[in-house]
Amino acid sequence: MTRWLVTGAGGMLGTDLVATVASRGEPVTGMDRAGLDVTDAAAVTDAIARGRPDVVVNCAAWTAVDDAEVAEERALAVNGPGVANLAAACARSGARLVQVSTDYVFAGDASRPYAEDDVPAPRTAYGRTKLAGERAVLGQLPGSGYVVRTAWLYGAHGPNFVRTMIKLEDQRPTVDVVDDQHGQPTWTVDVARQIIALVHSTAAPGIYHATSSGQTTWFGLAREIFALLGADPARVRPIPSSALPRPAPRPAYSVLGHGAWAGPGVPPIGEWRTALHRAFPGLLAAQRAAGVAG
Ligand SMILES: NC(=O)c1ccc[n+]([C@@H]2O[C@H](COP(=O)([O-])OP(=O)(O)OC[C@H]3O[C@@H](n4cnc5c(N)ncnc54)[C@H](OP(=O)(O)O)[C@@H]3O)[C@@H](O)[C@H]2O)c1
Repeated sequence: MTRWLVTGAGGMLGTDLVATVASRGEPVTGMDRAGLDVTDAAAVTDAIARGRPDVVVNCAAWTAVDDAEVAEERALAVNGPGVANLAAACARSGARLVQVSTDYVFAGDASRPYAEDDVPAPRTAYGRTKLAGERAVLGQLPGSGYVVRTAWLYGAHGPNFVRTMIKLEDQRPTVDVVDDQHGQPTWTVDVARQIIALVHSTAAPGIYHATSSGQTTWFGLAREIFALLGADPARVRPIPSSALPRPAPRPAYSVLGHGAWAGPGVPPIGEWRTALHRAFPGLLAAQRAAGVAG
């Protein structure tokens, strides 16, 4: 039976990955930041040597995209050398390593889905740091390193766009949402299941894209959320990104292709709208619980 170690287990994806692996009856150790800081090389070596996992999945990351613009070195320490620490420890122990990465490694100006082997060209500090992590894994673990890129994540265990829209629908008569950024809203539970399928397949080491199929804009996603809430979708109004300037420019086009899954014969994640409908009751419950607590 596969023994799992999940780092960043206190985060939105890490929480769902640990729960999904555990629900299959597989032994999994989840380590949150307090339990294992990936920038501490000695602690990483020790955790992997003691735990003797077959596979390590790194869900730990500096994910504050705008803050990274003014703190790139600190973001890099987690997303670059932190990942290299894990790769070095896995190389010593023989464990496979799955590194979770992002659409932000691409320029975001394409007009067709990014393939796994398209040339990265990050336009943000966050994207540069995440690319450093990818390179550490692929360079140090050519026979046992996997990069799983995802994007536009939502889940029950962290702040995200879907939960924000549930809150705003309750608080505001109208909501303005950008309509010129294209991507694939993706449920953390689907990414967890995809990582599990990858680990249990004969997949070659390398890069895989774990996003929903299809595509929409943040505006399109917000309208779908309002409809799911029984609210009038016309209360969501489209605006251009230029009306909402941010320190880190957001990619206009973040759609990722799924061709690599054909190799191991693993079906890609399904259509984004279907996933949202499945996830929604849990997201609503989590947001309502947070609202009551807050
Ligand atoms: N969210 C998205 O839309 C999205 C899109 C594309 C890719 N991704 C990638 O998906 C992965 C999971 O993201 P997420 O959405 O679950 O983010 P998240 O909720 O922010 O989780 C990241 C976790 O990493 C922890 N962490 C930060 N620095 C650490 C360190 N030095 N050592 C150990 N843990 C550390 C954080 O702890 P603290 O909270 O205590 O700092 C947090 O619990 C990341 O690799 C991210 O780049 C996310």
